[in-house]
Amino acid sequence: MTGSHALPPVARRVSEVRARVAEWRKTGLSVALVPTMGALHDGHLTLVRTALKAADRAVVSIFVNPTQFGPNEDFAAYPRTEDADLAKLASVGASLLFAPTVAEMYPQGFSTAITVAGVSEGLCGATRPGHFSGVATVVTKLLQQVQPDVAAFGEKDYQQLQVLRRLVRDLDMPVAILGVPTVREADGLALSSRNAYLSAEERAVAPALQRALADAAAAMTGGMPVAAALDAARAAILGAGFAAIDYLELRAADGLAPLTEVDRPARILVAARLGRTRLIDNLAV
Ligand code: PAF
Repeated sequence: MTGSHALPPVARRVSEVRARVAEWRKTGLSVALVPTMGALHDGHLTLVRTALKAADRAVVSIFVNPTQFGPNEDFAAYPRTEDADLAKLASVGASLLFAPTVAEMYPQGFSTAITVAGVSEGLCGATRPGHFSGVATVVTKLLQQVQPDVAAFGEKDYQQLQVLRRLVRDLDMPVAILGVPTVREADGLALSSRNAYLSAEERAVAPALQRALADAAAAMTGGMPVAAALDAARAAILGAGFAAIDYLELRAADGLAPLTEVDRPARILVAARLGRTRLIDNLAV
């Protein structure tokens, strides 16, 4: 998958990224940042393509950020596939890969954490305590390191996108946040690096999550009460073979206030366990 582009250069140090970006800035080029944890799939590549429509150069970061994983989560197991990732980045014309070490990002004595109240609470914030503080802190660092004009994030992690929009507004960060629609497999399953954990049987069950959201959204739009539509979706998800549902809720699309009626643009958000894999998805209503 190397396409027609050369492999992008790789920076491991903050100083190297800054030097590259400074060179681009000297010639008046605009810069986008696409933060990722690697194991790149077409969802990530869509972020890069979108970033390159919004800016002249795209820095892609790959950093499996330890501070956003809980003690019993998959930090150690998270797929690390840098060579394959680099070839994929070449295929979409990414300008630079920034792949720092943990010691570069969190040197001895690192003591700062960013917490975004409100939007970080509930949903994934309830089942993953500390997760969004880890995300907000690492994204703040990446934005400070690269100082991009725009940064692109997937709507697949919808609560994360809302947390980051709040963060840059609250801290007056001079960056435009681009939310990019979820890329799906032909059967509707949202692309995720964690789909790699699914067995063949689980992979066959997984699209039921998206189908349940789509059915609930259609039912709500057709006038079914929100609680009844969510109950039907819960039954469908568990009936399809998911082991448990962490949450399934209707929230305001902007700001994530809980909703009992569709009285403004809304989003159904879900996290559910399929075997040992936790899948998330969301859909506009
Ligand atoms: O969405 C992700 O992959 C991560 O949460 C991010 C934004 C790269 C921060 O580590």
